Amino acid sequence: MTFCYAASTVRLQRSGVGILILLSATSTPLRGDTVILAPAKDNTVYSEADDVSNGAGSYMFSGMTNSGNLRRALIGFDVSGSIPAGSTINSVTLRLYMSRTQAGNQTVRLHRLLADWGEGTSNANSGAFATNNDATWKYRFYVVNDPPSAPAWTSPGGDYAVTASASGTVGGIGAYIWGSSAAMVSDVQTWLDSPGVKSGWIIIGNEAQSQTAKRFDTRETSQISRRPQLTIDFTPDPTAGACCFMNGSCQVRSEAVCNSLNGSPQGEGTSCTPNPCAQPTGACCFTSGTCQTLAQSGCTMQFGAYQGDFTACMPQLCPVILTPFVDPLPIPPLATPISGAPGGAATYDMHMIQVQQQLHQDLPMTTLWTYEGMYPGPTILATRNVPVIVNWINDLRDEFNNPRTTHYLPVDLCPHGAVNEPKVVVHLHGGHVPAAFDGYPESTFLPGSSATYAYPNNQLPSLIWYHDHALGITRLNVYMGLAGGYVITDAFEQSLNLPSGEYDIPLIIQDRTFNSDGSLYYSAAWAEHFFGDKMLVNGKVWPYFNVKQGKYRLRALNGCNSRTLTLSLSNGQTFQQIGTDGGLLPAPVVLNQVTLGPAERADLIFDFSTYPPGTEIVLENSADAPFPVGDPMHAIPNVMKFIVQNQIGFTGAIPASLRAIETLNPMDVVTTRELTLQKTTDPCTGSVWLINGMHWEHIHEQPVLGTTEIWSFINRSEISHPMHMHLTFFQVLGRQDFDIVLGQVVPIGSPVPPAPEEAGWKDTVMAHPNQITRVIARFEDYTGLYPYHCHILEHEDHEMMRQFEVIAPPGSIPAVSEWGAFIMMLLLFVVGAVVLRGRTPDRAS
Ligand code: C2O
Ligand code: CU
Ligand code: CU
Repeated sequence: MTFCYAASTVRLQRSGVGILILLSATSTPLRGDTVILAPAKDNTVYSEADDVSNGAGSYMFSGMTNSGNLRRALIGFDVSGSIPAGSTINSVTLRLYMSRTQAGNQTVRLHRLLADWGEGTSNANSGAFATNNDATWKYRFYVVNDPPSAPAWTSPGGDYAVTASASGTVGGIGAYIWGSSAAMVSDVQTWLDSPGVKSGWIIIGNEAQSQTAKRFDTRETSQISRRPQLTIDFTPDPTAGACCFMNGSCQVRSEAVCNSLNGSPQGEGTSCTPNPCAQPTGACCFTSGTCQTLAQSGCTMQFGAYQGDFTACMPQLCPVILTPFVDPLPIPPLATPISGAPGGAATYDMHMIQVQQQLHQDLPMTTLWTYEGMYPGPTILATRNVPVIVNWINDLRDEFNNPRTTHYLPVDLCPHGAVNEPKVVVHLHGGHVPAAFDGYPESTFLPGSSATYAYPNNQLPSLIWYHDHALGITRLNVYMGLAGGYVITDAFEQSLNLPSGEYDIPLIIQDRTFNSDGSLYYSAAWAEHFFGDKMLVNGKVWPYFNVKQGKYRLRALNGCNSRTLTLSLSNGQTFQQIGTDGGLLPAPVVLNQVTLGPAERADLIFDFSTYPPGTEIVLENSADAPFPVGDPMHAIPNVMKFIVQNQIGFTGAIPASLRAIETLNPMDVVTTRELTLQKTTDPCTGSVWLINGMHWEHIHEQPVLGTTEIWSFINRSEISHPMHMHLTFFQVLGRQDFDIVLGQVVPIGSPVPPAPEEAGWKDTVMAHPNQITRVIARFEDYTGLYPYHCHILEHEDHEMMRQFEVIAPPGSIPAVSEWGAFIMMLLLFVVGAVVLRGRTPDRAS
């Protein structure tokens, strides 16, 4: 290390004990007041040990010992405590008494310390074990019980300015004086001007040669005349007054100096005690989600969370904080038909209505779009092969009860089909239905209009769901609440004696973010993902569910816009999965967690029979968002809580075999399609998701009715896409990694078959990054146009949705079932001029 010394460094001169010789600096000092200060602290650090110092000792040392160890003395003064703020320092000298040495003349330098340090109560001539707060070679404030936790120097031996503030020669026993030097004057001025800084100087002797150590007396020595003395000549500023700074701090300064420091002078003679300066303000967040601009003290007093000086209140800066597990789990009621019976042949009117609903006990009412005035919508119960007719009626009205003309949420007009209108169309997700009743995304209708769809239910029993599917704004309509469950059952399923009635519950899981007034928050601009910060189950934020000691059939549906869920129980309990999107598995699969991408379902059996009453078990979510590699900021670890009651519930056994599944045979495949999932740039939104680089209008996938195909989803992106096909259920063949070689996808390794819990009928499959996910499907019963898409609704809207067209075999006449659908549709339109019901206030509950 090289040192360069200040030009004004003066030679040290020996002085008589107790007599101060003020050495003249290069310029004549101003005449002013003089104070002589004793150190506020002093200490010695020892190079050979990290835990040795001499805080309370009578001596301090610098230089190298006979055995080659280094000593450095530290000394600090409380300048601001003794000199009025605003004063100008004219000259500074430090006097030390050197009381023992084996060496002749040695250079001893003062360097300004750059970090604060401490003096404890260690006491020994040649160093003692450091006590709490002692500075040592390694630490600034030693901690006896836990040295690694102690604040350490950045460089062992002390952090100090490279340039010495003063330097001089110390020879035999006697008093020596350093200063006055311009650097020492500037050091002291700094300590005066920044009252918090009391770091002082480090005293460094000859460290190149052993046996050069010098012993100086400290402030603790009993011989008062040998104690260190700092003599300061200064000129007080009669014009000084309080000077306020932007950060709310105050210093006594002359008006001119205050102005030059960008402070605001408070007038001559004004004082900094108490602090007269306006304290800076910043955003202060309250648990209600409101934000107020306050000073830190005011924010803390009102139990707010201060966001920092000069932070601004901005939308979504302050999350609404809600206590989990305080609302009971709602169970969506069964839809009531206008004719027929629930579970049988029936006709339903399903009004889409804007209502206010309370989604958490501490949250103001939330405006939602609902089916039949409730979010989620009522559950439609159907029996296999028994048709259900639904009149989907758009009756969305504004707060004046007029039919809405605009959307409730801000609409980004970039995505294809997006308009600022309350247009809707309903899709029965997982429904095997004629194209005319599938909820074609362009067949939307506005308030005052309706659509009548007939669902044949010629499919295996499972939980499917209805939700909005309007082109370009599906994410907004579903987010507003337009979703509900649809359960199909049959006699065979009933014969299995699975938990039913109060023990068979859908769990519709959706994430949302709220504004402080309770309204839903959704970003105005399309974004690649939406992740809420609260988890709702069946329309309540983090509900609890009182369960009896027994088994429950819980049908979990991931109804989130973008979020993947990995569900598990907080006590590590296993559960059984008995079914997938499209029906029962051949046998229950025991799991300790299950992952569901958006729109996927898992039919689960949870067994609470062995838990004592009062046991609380949390259903947790550990999936990253985005999935599979996400931002911890987006995590929502809680879903809901089960509380075991002192009551026996369903104790029947779950059959070891459920329903045999026909396995689709790859030998029957007539066409294999490759569908590449990739993001590209978009002038309007920045990015857009495409399938094979094509858009909605590009219809190239035309399976022939009755044939079997393999679809390979090739995911060339970093996130998983839940790929959904309308009309058909499919089976997952497997997943295979690939490499990109010269721009081409080259599969590597061998395909991995699906896990047992995925080896059933599916309508949505997770296509993971850098994998080819192959599914096999048979296109049956209905011809026509059907969408297939990613079920991350933000992707679906822009533009990861295309359509396939099931075509009749060449030369064939339309299949009977098609005629059936056609005739049914004709009948419905003849009979069904649907009159909008007048809306009565009690609907809006
Ligand atoms: Cu659940 Cu086309 O979607
Ligand atoms: Cu669907
Ligand atoms: Cu996607």
